Amino acid sequence: EILTDFVGNLPKIELHLHIEGTLEPELLIALAQRNGVDIPYKTIEAARAAYQFEDLQSFLNIYYLGASVLREERDFYELTLAYMSRCKAQQIRHVELFFDPQTHLANGVALAAVMGGITAALRDAERDWHISSALILCFERDRDPQPAVALLERACALGRIAGIGLDSAELGNPPEKFQEVFKVAKSMGLHRVAHAGEEGPPSYIWQALDVLDVERIDHGVRCLEDPALVRRLVDDRIPLTVCPFSNVALKVFSRLSEHNLGRMLKAGLLATIHSDDPAYFGGYLSENIIGTLSDLDLTAKDALLLERNAVEAAFCTDQRKQSLF
Ligand code: ADE
Ligand code: ZN
Repeated sequence: EILTDFVGNLPKIELHLHIEGTLEPELLIALAQRNGVDIPYKTIEAARAAYQFEDLQSFLNIYYLGASVLREERDFYELTLAYMSRCKAQQIRHVELFFDPQTHLANGVALAAVMGGITAALRDAERDWHISSALILCFERDRDPQPAVALLERACALGRIAGIGLDSAELGNPPEKFQEVFKVAKSMGLHRVAHAGEEGPPSYIWQALDVLDVERIDHGVRCLEDPALVRRLVDDRIPLTVCPFSNVALKVFSRLSEHNLGRMLKAGLLATIHSDDPAYFGGYLSENIIGTLSDLDLTAKDALLLERNAVEAAFCTDQRKQSLF
């Protein structure tokens, strides 16, 4: 189809991608064996069959279980390089990746192994395929916020961290819980983003803006419930990194044709499309864009608007932005 080719060939930008969420069943099973980690599925088919979710928490249980097979620096290298080669195949020119260090630390993996493996793969992808990238350290909001500042300082000493994010179980874990580390991050000159309004209420989006001083909202789809919030997001041109396949897989919307992305764009919001955890949600960036455009009756013109929005939302230099489009 024409739209499929158009989107496939369009230079694209990925801004909402958890590297642990790119762990395909093939690599999951291989790493479980190589590292002697016991997981409940013994075959690739059994793993894939287990990827059925009721909500965010039921997904997170499977996602953290999957992440537990990542033990050695080379595991993180292989995971990240496999993802970057998908980027090359999908004409993705710039990617900002989330990683969840607290999960790996809890599994007994050294922070240097996590960051060393990821950054080596990003460096190789930039050298060989000219894909630029940035790394965003996510704090898991269902954990204690107390150790966050020390972890951030350790990570910044080890490698190039572009910014911080906030992810994991949203309900009951409001952004204000992480006020201190976001303030420190700002003072360090780091970028700030937070998942908000995925399952949580519009008040969490307000808090992410007013208490954490974030520059982008991840998901944010529930903003349409609050007209004053929409006005704020439009006036301040706050990007919203929307992940349609994720929202359907986690039952935020019952089907893709029910997704509110079209309404978000009509409201003048700076929305973009991304893939969140593509190994778990049935598609990478091109599939998310093509599926959403076709199910919402959007056009190639809307695809261009979405990519222009993503360029504006990206944390790269103006010079790099100009070379992206
Ligand atoms: N961690 C990985 N994917 C996530 C999502 N969609 N929401 C919150 N935390 C996540
Ligand atoms: Zn996410």
